[in-house]
Amino acid sequence: MVHYKDLGLVNTREMFAKAFKGGYAIPAYNFNNLEQMQAIIQACVETSSPVILQVSSGARKYANQTLLRYMAQGAVEYAAELGKKIPIALHLDHGDTFELCKSCVETGFSSVMIDGSHLPYEENVALTKQVVDYAHKYDVTVEGELGVLAGIEDDVAAAEHIYTRPEDVKDFVSKTGVDSLAISIGTSHGANKFKPEQCTRNADGVLVPPELRFDILEEIEQRIPGFPIVLHGSSSVPQDLVAVINKYGGALKDAIGIPEEQLRKAAKSSVCKINIDSDGRIAMTAAVREVLHTKPAEFDPRKYLGPARDNLKKIYIHKNINVLGSANKA
Ligand code: G3H
Ligand code: 13P
Ligand code: ZN
Repeated sequence: MVHYKDLGLVNTREMFAKAFKGGYAIPAYNFNNLEQMQAIIQACVETSSPVILQVSSGARKYANQTLLRYMAQGAVEYAAELGKKIPIALHLDHGDTFELCKSCVETGFSSVMIDGSHLPYEENVALTKQVVDYAHKYDVTVEGELGVLAGIEDDVAAAEHIYTRPEDVKDFVSKTGVDSLAISIGTSHGANKFKPEQCTRNADGVLVPPELRFDILEEIEQRIPGFPIVLHGSSSVPQDLVAVINKYGGALKDAIGIPEEQLRKAAKSSVCKINIDSDGRIAMTAAVREVLHTKPAEFDPRKYLGPARDNLKKIYIHKNINVLGSANKA
């Protein structure tokens, strides 16, 4: 058993309490490799922001859970080396079984998500409670989910959103004992969150997607006042970076994300954690494509992964300051 406190990590309880009071959200950034980790820590140290480092099942398969955990442990020391001790949580993103969550608790994760959102309600309650009962013995915090995001989630494809039913949240939270709740109010995973025909054009000709269902969020807040809410699928899909990708041989078609103003509004509410992965992928891909296209003789990975890391860091700094409001909250 490796306990997260021995690694210098923190769970999400205090992070969320402060975020709730302060009207901001904690960034939850996914990582699979060294450059992503460096960019996240450099950006969060420079903006003095708390951060949740997220490992998905896919990341575990790709990079190995043990290596990723040691990287998170290294991140704590790296942040201190850069001159700022920031709160860092290591979180399992979209855990799908009790065994996986247990394994993460036992190997140094400070927070886990058990995603039973595709299960019938009572099965979701039972599975989530099983994880909570185990994780809380070690003071590891647990995120549950109610409602299903459209798109691909956990290898399950849903054509339409199944919005979270506000009438379920109080029962779910009290029966399971979860520390935070991911909800479905119109966000979705990946780079294609809306079809162009769902959007309207503003005066500048930019496609504007429909608003998130803030009415559902408000109803949820009334039913579980003060409870930390999580938004998955919250990338904004920056159009300038999409244009770079497509200019240098990419084919990202109809890529539309969540407008930043809407995320800013959410961050000021009970939303305490905002998950962002696709924007990081887009930032890295734009830089790699540009370097490989403009410098075809280049073959040192540092020469394209370095610029990818710089792009990534820039986007995270921007989000912490202008979207999540987590800058200077460490
Ligand atoms: O919600 C999913 C995250 O973006 C992680 O994606 O499972 O491809 O690593 P992944
Ligand atoms: P995006 O695909 O919008 O970045 O969402 C990531 C996410 O929700 C990770 O759990
Ligand atoms: Zn997610």
